Amino acid sequence: MAFPSTCTVSPQISLEGKECNSPWPRWGVGREKGTIIFCFCLILDATWKDILTAFRYSTTHNTSQERKQLQSKLETLFGGSEQWLAAFSIRTALDVFLTVMDFPVGSEVIFTAINIPDMVSVVESHGLKVVPVDLDLDTLAPKPELVELAVTDKTVAIVAAHLYGKWINLDKVFQVAHSHGLYVLEDCAESFQGLKRKGHKLSDLTFFSFGSIKYYTSLGGAMVRVKNPEILKKMRAKLEEFPVQSQWTYFKKLTCYSLLMMAGFNNSLFNWLFINSFHLLGFRYKEYFISLLRAFPGGVTINKLQYQPSAMLLKFMLYRLRRVSSKDFRIIKLKGDFVSSNLPSNVFVPGKKADIKSYWLFPLVVVSIVDRVTLGELVNQHCLQAHRIFFPQYRWFSIGNHTVSSSVWN
Ligand SMILES: Cc1ncc(COP(=O)(O)O)c(C=O)c1O
Repeated sequence: MAFPSTCTVSPQISLEGKECNSPWPRWGVGREKGTIIFCFCLILDATWKDILTAFRYSTTHNTSQERKQLQSKLETLFGGSEQWLAAFSIRTALDVFLTVMDFPVGSEVIFTAINIPDMVSVVESHGLKVVPVDLDLDTLAPKPELVELAVTDKTVAIVAAHLYGKWINLDKVFQVAHSHGLYVLEDCAESFQGLKRKGHKLSDLTFFSFGSIKYYTSLGGAMVRVKNPEILKKMRAKLEEFPVQSQWTYFKKLTCYSLLMMAGFNNSLFNWLFINSFHLLGFRYKEYFISLLRAFPGGVTINKLQYQPSAMLLKFMLYRLRRVSSKDFRIIKLKGDFVSSNLPSNVFVPGKKADIKSYWLFPLVVVSIVDRVTLGELVNQHCLQAHRIFFPQYRWFSIGNHTVSSSVWN
C-alpha cells in the first residue's frame, strides 16, 4: 500500500497498537467486541515564521484602542461587527451567552453526544442540565429520531458540533429547534475550513476556535457569529467587563509551544522517537501533553475563561486568518481521503457519510484484535503515531479531550 510520501495527513494520523495487555476500550457491535482508536493530533499548525511573527507582536500596545481596532478588523474579515465577535475562546463566548440569556436554573441544553468536557462544564456551571443526543457514526450527525425525543418543556437550546473536520447535516436540528422555539448553537471548533464556510445562516450562534490544536492556530482566540443583534450587543458589553489577557501570559504560552516545536513536536520522526522513548521509560506523556495542549492547562474554571483577548493574540489571529488558503484544505482532504480509502476494509472511519468530509482528528474504529495488530503494523510502517482512548463505564465518557455520551458506542 502506498501512502503519499510526506504522510503528514494534517491532522497527523496517530495510532498506537502495540501493547495488547493494556485496557483497550471496548463496546458491543452485534455480538462482537470492538475497539475504538482515537487519533490525536500532535501537530501545531504553524510554521517557525508564524511563531516568530507572533513573538514580534509582543511589542504591540495592549491598550483598549489597539484591541478594539484589531477586533474590528477580525470581525470585518469574517463578515462585519454587526454579526461577528472576536473572543478569547469558544468557552468564553458560550459562558457569556448563557450569562446574557439567564435561563432558569434546571433548564436543559441538548448536546450532540461528542464534545469536549469543558463545554459541558460551562453549561452546568450556569445551573443548566446537559442532555446528550446520540450520533449516527456514519454521518456524525445526531440521530434524527432522537433529537425530537430529547426535547422537554425545559429545553432552551441545542448545541450541535461538527466533529473531526466533518460538516454534518443540521436540517433536523433546525426543524426541531424552530418548532419548539430553541436556540441553535453551532460548534465549528473542529471544522474550520477557511473563510468561505462560516456556518449555517440559521444558527443563532456559530463558534470557530483558533486554539493550539486547531487549523490556522493563533494559540487561542475564537470567532463567534451571533444572529440576533440585541444578543450580540449584550454579549459584547458583558465581554468588555472581563479583564484583558496580559501580553506576558500570552508570551509565556508562545514560548512554551516554541519549545515544544524545538523539541521536534511538528516532526513525524521526532514525534515517533519521543513517544517510543516515553513508552520505554514508562512516562505517561499523554496526560501531560494533553493538559499542556489545552488552552487552560490543569483544567478550566470559569474565571480562567473570563478574559478579553490581548492585542498580541488578536494581532496574531488577524495575521493568520488573513493568510488562510483554501489550497491547504484541499490538500488535507486529498490526504485524508487517500488514507481513508487505503485502510483495511474492517477499519471503520466515523463520519465517512458526513455532508462535507474533511479531516482534523482522525478517529478509527477497529473491531478485533487481529485488526488492531494489522492496523498497528500499517501505522508503524508509515511512521504514524497513535493515541488510544480508554472508555470508563459512565454516562459521559472522557476520551482524550472529548466527552461522549455512553450510548453512542452501544
Ligand atoms: C468541539 C469543540 N468545542 C469547543 C471547543 C473549545 O474551543 P475553545 O478552546 O476556543 O474554547 C473545542 C476545543 O477543542 C472543541 O473541540
